[in-house]
Amino acid sequence: MSDDTGEPEVELEARLEEQETFEPPESFVEQANVSDPDVYEEFEENWPDCWERAADLLSWDEEYDTVLEDGDAPFYEWFTGGELNASYNCLDRHVEEGAKNRAAIKWEGELGETRTYTYGDLLNEVEAFAAALRDLGVEEDDVVTLYMPMIPELPIAMLACARIGAPHSVVFAGFSADALATRMNSADSEYLVTCDGYYRRGDALNHKEKADKGLRGVENDVQTVVVDRLGDELTHFLGADAHDYGELVAEHEGASVEPVSRDAEDMLFLMYTSGTTGEPKGVKHTTGGYLAYTAWTSHAVLDVKPEDTYWCTADIGWITGHSYIVYGPLALGTTTMMYEGTPDYPEKDRLWDLVEKNRVDTFYTAPTAIRSFMKWGTEYPERHDLSSLRLLGTVGEPINPRAWKWYYKHIGDEECPIVDTWWQTETGGMMITTLPAINEMKPGSAGPPLPGGMMITTLPAINEMKPGSAGPPLPGVDARVVDANGDEVEAGQAGYVTVNNPWPGMLRTLYQNDERFIEEYWTEYSDEEADEWVYFPEDGAKIDEDDYITILGRVDDVINVSGHRLGTMEIESAVVGVEGIAEAAVVGGDHDVKGEAVYVYAIPEDGYEDRHAELEEKAMEAVLDSIGPIARPEEIVFTPELPKTRSGKIMRRLLENIASGDELGDTSTLRNPEIVDEIADQVAGD
Ligand code: WT7
Repeated sequence: MSDDTGEPEVELEARLEEQETFEPPESFVEQANVSDPDVYEEFEENWPDCWERAADLLSWDEEYDTVLEDGDAPFYEWFTGGELNASYNCLDRHVEEGAKNRAAIKWEGELGETRTYTYGDLLNEVEAFAAALRDLGVEEDDVVTLYMPMIPELPIAMLACARIGAPHSVVFAGFSADALATRMNSADSEYLVTCDGYYRRGDALNHKEKADKGLRGVENDVQTVVVDRLGDELTHFLGADAHDYGELVAEHEGASVEPVSRDAEDMLFLMYTSGTTGEPKGVKHTTGGYLAYTAWTSHAVLDVKPEDTYWCTADIGWITGHSYIVYGPLALGTTTMMYEGTPDYPEKDRLWDLVEKNRVDTFYTAPTAIRSFMKWGTEYPERHDLSSLRLLGTVGEPINPRAWKWYYKHIGDEECPIVDTWWQTETGGMMITTLPAINEMKPGSAGPPLPGGMMITTLPAINEMKPGSAGPPLPGVDARVVDANGDEVEAGQAGYVTVNNPWPGMLRTLYQNDERFIEEYWTEYSDEEADEWVYFPEDGAKIDEDDYITILGRVDDVINVSGHRLGTMEIESAVVGVEGIAEAAVVGGDHDVKGEAVYVYAIPEDGYEDRHAELEEKAMEAVLDSIGPIARPEEIVFTPELPKTRSGKIMRRLLENIASGDELGDTSTLRNPEIVDEIADQVAGD
């Protein structure tokens, strides 16, 4: 990094470590999409019509009549009466405006091969595949399941579905066969698009085998399309009823498929996510509100411009990839990057190599990745010219200030603002984050000048960056931190996040389960009688004197492993399914890189007490089979008992403390306090 102040590097490092607030460089502010601080007031005064500003980023086939329809809250509707097509908005309109030769997707495979799709190319292939899907029988509103890794055919299939009005349900490729089957059954899906395999650390993984295994558990007769990713690497087995993607696209080359006008409230996609109970929740997102919201937040927060090369390193199998690799960036007509593989293959500088080669402007990643980069050391980013970067972002879990500062310095060279964006699968897009270019002094809060007339350098400002704190809610978003009664907590206090007004990107319901939708999100803090609806995201948080929100983590039985949300109940039910295991409790424990890791505490059945190794292997296998490698337990501890309260409830908090190596505190209220030390010794002993 440059050090033209003459300060020794060590001092500079120390200064950075202590610094608590950061401001965006003037050069960034000057070019930013949104830099007028009045945007906050403007949104507040014109709410909900302020959201027209988001809708204006889209092309509508039919103008909407009403911005927000709240007559049947919490079943809110946005931009009602409006009609549009998401694939038209992400493709055709850019081509019509002359951008046919601009790169839409730049992809790199793990082995180094690259593919670039211009907007023109992408439209052609989307149309061909849309025509093929129709030929297979896909009709408007049929749910098409996409079970694919990070290959261009995944966004192509998503947009092809969107074009013909068929909602997609993308299942993360790392999920197991069982997880695929559960999601297909839940969505009553009759169509699957998958692939033969993909590369991980140089090895070809057989994905088709996993898909086939999953299909055996699906109730419907399924039509399957298989993308040939690996060529000859794996025999490209096609069962009798499977279709080859390449052949289908070739057969339909040149097809022209009119984008179907969808009602703003028609479903664009389903995305399954974990909750408190074992059953994954099918989060329903719609066409108008979701697309407007992801386009607006990409514009205002990620500062995406059509001429940018933008890179979000998430997997499209999660909501981050849907909103900020595919829909938001493509709606704005930018170049979005995709990388198939792992960040440390063949070496730990792979991502920086990609940034340099592609002159990436914006880089959006997860804290867990940043903590890995830190661990690997600065030599890897230092090998590359990262000066093309203009903005950095993080998402998925809280970022510790040290990791934030490392990112700021070693990746951004202290020249890039960082946006720490809090949101969820359910919110569709970002909710709490600073706006990167707004740095308005707070009226009335500037202190007196220092003696000698020197200006104070760190005046309290709206939207200055505070490492570790996501920031204020976005304009138009009414997020608060409240106590158990729903009253806002004082600055400095901790409480729970609530969202007290609806927003366009919000989930509309849980697929075919309105009751669970209300129960999961709208009961804790709403007053049904008074028709006052408050959304509860199940996160704990603190708020400071500048209304900055620092997210503390989930308050339900969901843990966040490397930015991925896992339900402890799902893991528990896999473990107790193992013969020889009587009872199990699964909790999250702190982890340096992953944020949280999975800890399993299990009680062997009578007769299995001496067979821990065998049980451990089976439990591990059960977790991998029912969820996938992301849920792989850090540790499986066998114990004759679990710590329980006198009323027989498992003390999860205590198990979490043991897993994290934290103070255990008072255990005297337990029915069996003696078991605690025994378990703690086992965990520490490993
Ligand atoms: C949960 C949502 C948002 C897309 C990726 C995860 C946690 C998310 C942050 C952040 C602290 C964060 C929350 C949230 N989370 N972003 N910037 N700071 N925590 O989506 O799988 O639906 O998980 O991730 O706990 O509830 P998800």
